Amino acid sequence: MAQNAFQPLQGMSDLTDPELGVWRRIEGKAREVFARYGFDEIRAPILERADLFERSLGETTDVVTKEMYSFTDRGDRRVTLRPEGTAGVVRYVAGRGPEAQDARLYYIGPMFRAEKPQAGRKRQFHQIGVEAIGPPDPYADAECIALQMRLLAEWGLSDCALQVNTRGLPEDQRAVSQVLRERLGPRQAQLCEDCTRRLDMNIYRVLDCKQERCREIVAELPPLTEFMCEPSRAHFAQVRAALEQIGLPVNVTPKLVRGFDYYVHTVWEITHGALGAQDALSGGGRYTLRFGQKQIEGVGFAIGVERVVAALQTKAAQAESCAQAPELWLVSLGKEAIRQNFALLEQVRANGLRCGMLFGGRGMKAQMRAANKSGATRVVIRGPDEIEKDLFILKDMQGGGQRTLSRQQLENELDVN
Ligand code: HAM
Repeated sequence: MAQNAFQPLQGMSDLTDPELGVWRRIEGKAREVFARYGFDEIRAPILERADLFERSLGETTDVVTKEMYSFTDRGDRRVTLRPEGTAGVVRYVAGRGPEAQDARLYYIGPMFRAEKPQAGRKRQFHQIGVEAIGPPDPYADAECIALQMRLLAEWGLSDCALQVNTRGLPEDQRAVSQVLRERLGPRQAQLCEDCTRRLDMNIYRVLDCKQERCREIVAELPPLTEFMCEPSRAHFAQVRAALEQIGLPVNVTPKLVRGFDYYVHTVWEITHGALGAQDALSGGGRYTLRFGQKQIEGVGFAIGVERVVAALQTKAAQAESCAQAPELWLVSLGKEAIRQNFALLEQVRANGLRCGMLFGGRGMKAQMRAANKSGATRVVIRGPDEIEKDLFILKDMQGGGQRTLSRQQLENELDVN
């Protein structure tokens, strides 16, 4: 049997303990916070009709054109492994009576996208998401963002960056598309291959492009809100005011549009510095979707669980290495400095501080490099001058400043004697 017969498919993982313990804690906390905000759980099917996603996400979006796992189900019905959770929840709500018109639902489960596997991009990944159904209300958008920030903070990720923008109403999107066509059309030759196609198919997607040269061209465009109607701008202003009121002031990211066609009004993304290139922890926004006679409106978000776990693990590793890092590093220039620093090293350690020093008679550069690598927050530097006067240069490795201290001052500073 081939070796890879024992491996899951590329981009998919077997999840086992002890890592699953972290997942259970994340999920448990999410359920607790969702209950606080009045959300109930939904477990929708993983397999849905293909046209549910084609219609909801948009025929020309990357997910629909390139990434869906679709196949024909026995007869001739095309089905798809869900690439996201919003469409299924909206389908459920549309099929219910008036009791579902203000549904507040959350979901936890696997999603599937046939993406090129790379760090942070899986083909089977997991989302924790919510959908709050109801007519457009800036408070509902702000509540959803607040819920997401609360959840991230309770998981230990309060150091996230929130980017918010508005796509306005569908009418605005037509006006904005027109402006984009006028501005980007003449620059077609400078755009990437995908974007030249996007110009005709779905010009909004150009704003999302990750290619450097497309990003530069997009950066030159004016903010999209300039071309939106007054009610759209007012909705967005109220969302920002509501967030400010609860201590969540936002920096607007004027070209953020997100990758699905169902979005209207507020859209947002949350990134975390501990993640590499795939730094989006989560994304969300307000949407409107038509199902037969019903127009379903709502607001929601989804957080990638793998990325939450990765961010927590990186943070824990950083905290651990900080906890182990020396509090002081000694750098010596000349034999006498080495001799005296060797005694100081022992004295500092005897007083309970983590202290390091590079042996081997290496030069200043090598010693400073070692200090840097160790993560030490402060460095004592001594050369012939300092030895002669019994002085100590104390360098702050975080702030960058340095001071010259007497022995007594150094001992006071380090709280050793
Ligand atoms: P999305 O931005 O496509 O939005 O996905 C949300 C999150 O899922 C991303 O920020 C990321 O953390 C995670 N994610 C997406 N693709 C992958 C992947 N290939 N591998 C690992 N993690 C991934 C949605 O899915 C919308 N349904 C969110 C929403 C809900 N909007 C309104 N309601």
